[in-house]
Amino acid sequence: MNLPTRQWRVAVAGCGAAAFGLHLPALAANPAFDIVAVHDREAERARLAARRFAVPRIAHTVEELLDGADLLAVLTGVHDTLIDAALDVGVHVFTEKPVSLDLERTRALISKARRAGRILEVGAMRAHDPALHALLATVPDPAGGWLIKADGADEAARRALLPPGLEPYTFAADPPQPTPHHLADDQLDALRILLWQGYHLLTALVLAVPGARPGTCTLAAHGQGLTATIHGPGPAGALFTLAIVPAAPGDFREQIHLVGGDFAATLDIARPYQRATGTRLSTHLGSDPHTVFGDPFTAMWNAVGQRLAGQHPADLPTSADLALHVEELAAGLADATHAPVPHHQEKEEQHARR
Ligand SMILES: NC(=O)c1ccc[n+]([C@@H]2O[C@H](COP(=O)([O-])OP(=O)(O)OC[C@H]3O[C@@H](n4cnc5c(N)ncnc54)[C@H](O)[C@@H]3O)[C@@H](O)[C@H]2O)c1
Repeated sequence: MNLPTRQWRVAVAGCGAAAFGLHLPALAANPAFDIVAVHDREAERARLAARRFAVPRIAHTVEELLDGADLLAVLTGVHDTLIDAALDVGVHVFTEKPVSLDLERTRALISKARRAGRILEVGAMRAHDPALHALLATVPDPAGGWLIKADGADEAARRALLPPGLEPYTFAADPPQPTPHHLADDQLDALRILLWQGYHLLTALVLAVPGARPGTCTLAAHGQGLTATIHGPGPAGALFTLAIVPAAPGDFREQIHLVGGDFAATLDIARPYQRATGTRLSTHLGSDPHTVFGDPFTAMWNAVGQRLAGQHPADLPTSADLALHVEELAAGLADATHAPVPHHQEKEEQHARR
């Protein structure tokens, strides 16, 4: 691998669980990057991150943060305003997913980055996951399958990643972010579930089936989850089912099952913040419990370094192209969303039709 001739100076906005548990360790271990400054709306979080990861500067404003940086890493809950601010002063951006909940806003930011000649890398980490690539190599032409996520948010696991005293999940304090005006409340709920909880499954789907098209989407009662269908390209295309369902605190399942031709395989993905060694691939030939997959975050930051150095494989979409596909698919499913008809109402309607 050709490393850039100098280290890339990274400024980090947002010092929460994703920063402490995923990105700062990967960045600190990567010789292509130098973390030069950290910033958080709660100054104490930035101070603790600077101490743990030996970062020389705590920035108190976004302006201070961007000063002297090559790349801004956006690790907050709302991303678009920070992306905008970095591009305004010619700083490259890595952002956690999604770019935004509003496809038009995302398109505008991707265009702005292109016009500015700056990269906008999106943390579609599943695209860098060796385990997903092993699944796609086993079932190269998927004709159907299912993707399931049941994540009972595990506060205790997150707390363990953070310095003592820091609360996990700060999203309740976030300002409202732009959302498409035409969506009804149920459709907006579906969009949030798809882009917040389902993002990595949608990334996998878009990579497995590049022409994936939205089918139906039904919100579960109380907006706690959804089930959706997604079609492959062509009139008689393949059919995939996506289910994002509630789970008890601490319970976790993220599974992708693909079938195609004589091939079938299932990927059971490790819990968040657990080493990727917990991920298991079973194929039509069986499974090897000793197979250990590499860490997607390490691979992702290597890819960001290569993109900054002007290297990107011509046959792969950039992460911004990929992110746009994911957001387009989510937007199409949100448009198609309807809430379930209550059981008693369904019975009455059936009765009336008789
Ligand atoms: N790729 C993954 O597997 C993965 C896992 C977890 C989280 N994430 C993503 O990472 C992002 C952060 O999630 P998290 O779990 O770390 O959340 P968190 O609530 O633990 O941390 C967010 C941090 O950002 C700070 N913050 C928020 N807005 C800010 C602003 N405008 N300026 C400065 N600081 C600000 C908060 O004070 C907090 O410290 C989210 O977009 C989330 O979807 C991705």
